[in-house]
Amino acid sequence: MFPVILAVPECTAVSDDQYKQLLSIVSSERKARAERFLRFEDSCRSVIAETLLAYTLKTVCGIDFNSVTIIENQWKKPVIEEFNIHFNLTHSGSWVMCIIDEYETGIDVERVKHVDFGIVPRFFSAAEQAFFNQCTTDEQRLDRFSTLWVLKESYIKAIGRGLYCPLDSFSVVPAENSIVTLQRNDPSLPHKYLKLFPAGDSYRCAACCSIDRFPSGINLVTVANLIESLIIQKK
Ligand SMILES: CC(C)(COP(=O)(O)OP(=O)(O)OC[C@H]1O[C@@H](n2cnc3c(N)ncnc32)[C@H](O)[C@@H]1OP(=O)(O)O)[C@@H](O)C(=O)NCCC(=O)NCCS
Repeated sequence: MFPVILAVPECTAVSDDQYKQLLSIVSSERKARAERFLRFEDSCRSVIAETLLAYTLKTVCGIDFNSVTIIENQWKKPVIEEFNIHFNLTHSGSWVMCIIDEYETGIDVERVKHVDFGIVPRFFSAAEQAFFNQCTTDEQRLDRFSTLWVLKESYIKAIGRGLYCPLDSFSVVPAENSIVTLQRNDPSLPHKYLKLFPAGDSYRCAACCSIDRFPSGINLVTVANLIESLIIQKK
């Protein structure tokens, strides 16, 4: 059954009425956090993220979100305390995604946006820079930059260390057969497996799992599905 990725692809098309309904579903902490954002779309992604987690727990695991306690690990990764279930959330642009597994897992989606490629040495290891430097056009550079970025993020999110994990302590290099090789320059880092998922031309998405087992694709969910399924389960 595991791992599973569920995602809402249209987070920027939420009506005021739907937003109010989502707010009535989320925890008081999430509601307060969502209301602190200045931009409506940031508030939407935040409430959709928690409702998507609640929906995933309900539909994939049969677990009521109200029976779950979310705590933070020492590096601020939100984790479920009671059950042997691991999850991770990510949001960017119109996407919110949730991965769930029995083992440590991470996911990252990012909108492809123009960057100053001068920052490459700051973020990428020597092996990653070599992969990036094979590019001959800016289009390829942007593609490889965004791909390396989501792969690295999915790994640091899986191991839960955020930016406490030095970015040159490991390398993630995709091969032509789309298999991603993880090299750990710091042997104390855990081994993981990585996979890229299609998320439209303007986005890159990667998931990171503890065993070499991935879903074949991403299951799409609408905001209406979330509201319909969860509106009676107010936290
Ligand atoms: C915070 C961080 C974990 C992810 O940041 P991000 O890419 O901006 O955010 P995402 O949308 O992918 O993920 C956000 C979710 O990750 C989860 N999260 C927060 N801290 C986390 C951690 N330490 N580990 C794993 N997941 C974490 C949360 O659930 C959060 O969603 P929520 O706030 O709605 O609950 C961290 O990796 C970071 O700060 N990255 C900065 C970017 C960077 O320099 N990356 C280098 C890549 S080469």
